Amino acid sequence: MSVGSGRVAGKAALVTGAANGIGRATAMLLAEEGAAVACIDINGTQAASVAEEIVTAGGRAFGMQADVSTREGTQAMAAATVEQFGCIDILHNNAGIAGVYEPVHRFPEDMWEKVIATNLTSVFLGSKAVLPYMLEAGRGVIINTCSVFGSFASRTLPAYHAAKGGVLMLTKQMAVDYGPAIRVNCVSPGTIDSAMMRSVIAQSADPAAREQEYKDSNPVLKRIGDPREIAYGVLFLASDESSFMVGADLFMGGGQGLFSSP
Ligand SMILES: NC(=O)c1ccc[n+]([C@@H]2O[C@H](COP(=O)([O-])OP(=O)(O)OC[C@H]3O[C@@H](n4cnc5c(N)ncnc54)[C@H](O)[C@@H]3O)[C@@H](O)[C@H]2O)c1
Repeated sequence: MSVGSGRVAGKAALVTGAANGIGRATAMLLAEEGAAVACIDINGTQAASVAEEIVTAGGRAFGMQADVSTREGTQAMAAATVEQFGCIDILHNNAGIAGVYEPVHRFPEDMWEKVIATNLTSVFLGSKAVLPYMLEAGRGVIINTCSVFGSFASRTLPAYHAAKGGVLMLTKQMAVDYGPAIRVNCVSPGTIDSAMMRSVIAQSADPAAREQEYKDSNPVLKRIGDPREIAYGVLFLASDESSFMVGADLFMGGGQGLFSSP
């Protein structure tokens, strides 16, 4: 794979939620830029096919099924990556779900647990599983996928907002604890065209109106973003180009949340 200019050449990366959307785009881009990539997802078949695509294009990758909301899944993904590549230089804690749209008084408790486990506890467990290898090597970068919804509220999405707010602060906490050897940052996408976003649109009473609402929520660029546009942010944070960034939130909202109107 010789598409890029080797911005992460020779690095070993682990990307969670790599079967779709932002994770898939990041796995592909990191591979194009010279990294070996572990494609991890709860959907093992799709993770394997992303890895296969990378290998077919001349890159180095493997796919693996793992549930990042569990200790077993995260320990297994870290061990498998080290077994395959010898180390882990880059960890992208990215897997996530939207959950359901309900205000707190109607929000199902099991869904609260699931969203927090998948979107927040996964960052803790994924980092906990990978950090011993990074500490031993004396180097590493961790990039967490947060969201513009980690910084401001929307309507009826309490568990998601709580989880992403947690990811933002966990990023800062880990940046302090593990720097300078290990740099920890996060990226905060606005609305991005992915399986998650499409399912939210499909589930709404008026999908066309919901899609327009998403576009309108982005008053500057006036469009939904592409996963690859976020992958470039992750690549920057993964590469040495961002060597003076720690505990930062790379806000990639396309204008979403930039100002309130009128
Ligand atoms: N799409 C957006 O508008 C948007 C905006 C801001 C932040 N994000 C965040 O970006 C990240 C990626 O989302 P996306 O939009 O690419 O969605 P997506 O649905 O396309 O991809 C998410 C991937 O995570 C995987 N996954 C879900 N639960 C998992 C688990 N327990 N273990 C392992 N893998 C699991 C899914 O199978 C899927 O492949 C999420 O953290 C999401 O919250 C998305």
